[in-house]
Amino acid sequence: MATYISHSAAETAALGAAWGRDAQPGLVIALSGELGAGKTELVRGLAAGLDAPARVHSPSFTLLNIYSGGRLELYHIDLYRLDTPAQAVDAGLEEYLHTRGVTAIEWPEKWFGPDPAAAARQFRLTMRWVQIEIVGHTERRIRYEDFGP
Ligand SMILES: Nc1ncnc2c1ncn2[C@@H]1O[C@H](COP(=O)(O)OP(=O)(O)O)[C@@H](O)[C@H]1O
Ligand SMILES: [Mg+2]
Repeated sequence: MATYISHSAAETAALGAAWGRDAQPGLVIALSGELGAGKTELVRGLAAGLDAPARVHSPSFTLLNIYSGGRLELYHIDLYRLDTPAQAVDAGLEEYLHTRGVTAIEWPEKWFGPDPAAAARQFRLTMRWVQIEIVGHTERRIRYEDFGP
């Protein structure tokens, strides 16, 4: 488990950008944290690190946005409005867990529950589980751990 203290939205995006530059095909990045924690900011950085030209916005009304044109495709899922895990499957989201791109998932516990190791086993994921905590107005504690093969 690694911990990164971010002092600004730009620093959070920069962390995401570093991950985007390093990302291997099939990586799933699960982003847990309350509203306003900075999950979407981190995805914005991911897109930049992948050199995806699109502007990232929250897909809250669509469950999924796809950003193409970068080194790898970026699938951005937001499960804020999900009521049950079955709805994720019904919406066809399972296919985005195993791709040649990178998949970022906001509110992942709504689908996977609270145990990332179990979820990685069940869905055979290569997954970085990220928890963002609001410490202060612009300070965030970002903890992350990798699961899977
Ligand atoms: N250190 C920080 N990291 C990320 N966002 C921050 C930080 N400090 C302030 N913010 C602000 O918090 C908000 C985070 O919004 P957003 O990324 O949409 O959150 P979430 O997707 O987790 O709901 C933005 O308005 C951003 O400018
Ligand atoms: Mg968001």
